[in-house]
Amino acid sequence: MKNLAAIVLAAGKGTRMKSRIPKVLHPIAGHAMLHYPIGVLKGLKAGKVVVVTGHGAEAVEKALSGFKGLTFVHQAEQKGTGHAVMCAARELKAHTGDVIILSGDVPLITPQTVKALLKVHRGKRGAPISFISAVLGDPSGYGRVVRDPDGKVTGIVEDKDCTAPQRKINEVNAGVYMVNASFLLKNINRISPKNAQKEYYLPDLVRMAVEQGGHVPALTHLDASEVMGINNRVELARANSIMRERVLRELMLSGVTIVDPGATYIDVGARIGVDTLIYPNVHINGGTTIGENCVIEEGARIEDSAIAVNTKVKSYSIIESTSVGKDVTIGPFARLRPGNVIGDRARIGNFVEVKKSIVGTGSKANHLSYLGDSEIGDNVNIGAGTITCNYDGVKKHRTVIEDNAFIGSDTQLVAPVRVGKNAYVGSGTTVTKDVPSWSLVITRANERVVEGWAKRKIKK
Ligand code: UD1
Ligand code: CA
Repeated sequence: MKNLAAIVLAAGKGTRMKSRIPKVLHPIAGHAMLHYPIGVLKGLKAGKVVVVTGHGAEAVEKALSGFKGLTFVHQAEQKGTGHAVMCAARELKAHTGDVIILSGDVPLITPQTVKALLKVHRGKRGAPISFISAVLGDPSGYGRVVRDPDGKVTGIVEDKDCTAPQRKINEVNAGVYMVNASFLLKNINRISPKNAQKEYYLPDLVRMAVEQGGHVPALTHLDASEVMGINNRVELARANSIMRERVLRELMLSGVTIVDPGATYIDVGARIGVDTLIYPNVHINGGTTIGENCVIEEGARIEDSAIAVNTKVKSYSIIESTSVGKDVTIGPFARLRPGNVIGDRARIGNFVEVKKSIVGTGSKANHLSYLGDSEIGDNVNIGAGTITCNYDGVKKHRTVIEDNAFIGSDTQLVAPVRVGKNAYVGSGTTVTKDVPSWSLVITRANERVVEGWAKRKIKK
């Protein structure tokens, strides 16, 4: 957007969160709260974006490392929102257009709303400052919008400074402003902390603009939830549920079946193909992508993974940082720890744990196994109870199982070890040496059958 710079306020501690983590880093649908306003600004192609940090500044900057070209300004002491903007204004001296000011704790704001505000702001009369208001059933805690008898905005009064009649006003300031840069730079240092909280209040700019003869439009937003500020964990939970609803709605409208949207948890940024069916209590996190026509059964958790088409993840399976091919079946109760590549048509069955392993096309590990640091070729059969003994107490070692090998049940593969193509490992074998292709390996104590032993023992 042309001639638009931005300030994001993110220095506050968030006392009401009662947390050791800075408020703006609390997660909503998989991302820090602050990620959302910044995302909106980046989406609108705002020029310079100045982020004011204070509490936990280092952690806040780190959390935003995925965004390019942000300017961070440190507000060492949090003397109020007006003071935060004073700190940021130093970085905008050369700016001539408008400045949008967002709060790090108003994460549900959408680009459409910001665009609407800009339109109002740049309307016929040209305003020094414009802001978004909302009408709330319970306005407590918010700054109230004061209007004169003609309905013109005259100022914003903070909750703690309200007179009894003002406290009854239920039109509130949403904390989203569009300000003309020269008005901002001329007036920001004139804000005084003479108020109940002895803070520099940014909304004082509204009164100052009116006093200077300016017209201040308020865009009254009808969906109050979009402009809600997150100040405590009750509001955090509400924001999470609204964000979740948005994600699920978009997915459903794009062709994904969500059986119970009230009990499905998908992060912003996950991508899912059409005709995929998602049962309740599924968590899909991080940058996960799931292809078309998959089934994700109840209780599955999938994180930072890529799943191709026609794959079924059965109940209560956990998949982390893994790539899964097409026509695969995982679970129920499978655990895929980070670093796996599971080939097309593979089967990873119940109580199978896989870590840092490659499983080839059509290979099967259907029951009760541990496959760690292994490389498994195509069409390999891994019998129940197979364990790769990858750790010798000091180092991890690799197991290689080549194409078409058959690993009998209850096998231990003591790594580093290799089983060649088409080889057979008899059930119950402890494999410690490489097995050449087409061979059989078996370690088994001689089986002794003592007839009648039990009868004699019990002495009936
Ligand atoms: C603010 C507004 C209020 C509005 C409400 C909407 C003021 C004085 N009041 O109140 O009119 O109804 O938002 O949600 O602005 N921050 C800093 N530095 C500071 C103080 C705050 O960066 O010194 C940041 C906070 O991290 C937060 C944002 O500014 O992201 C808003 O501050 P907060 O203390 O939550 O203001 P409210 O009391 O909610
Ligand atoms: Ca707030």
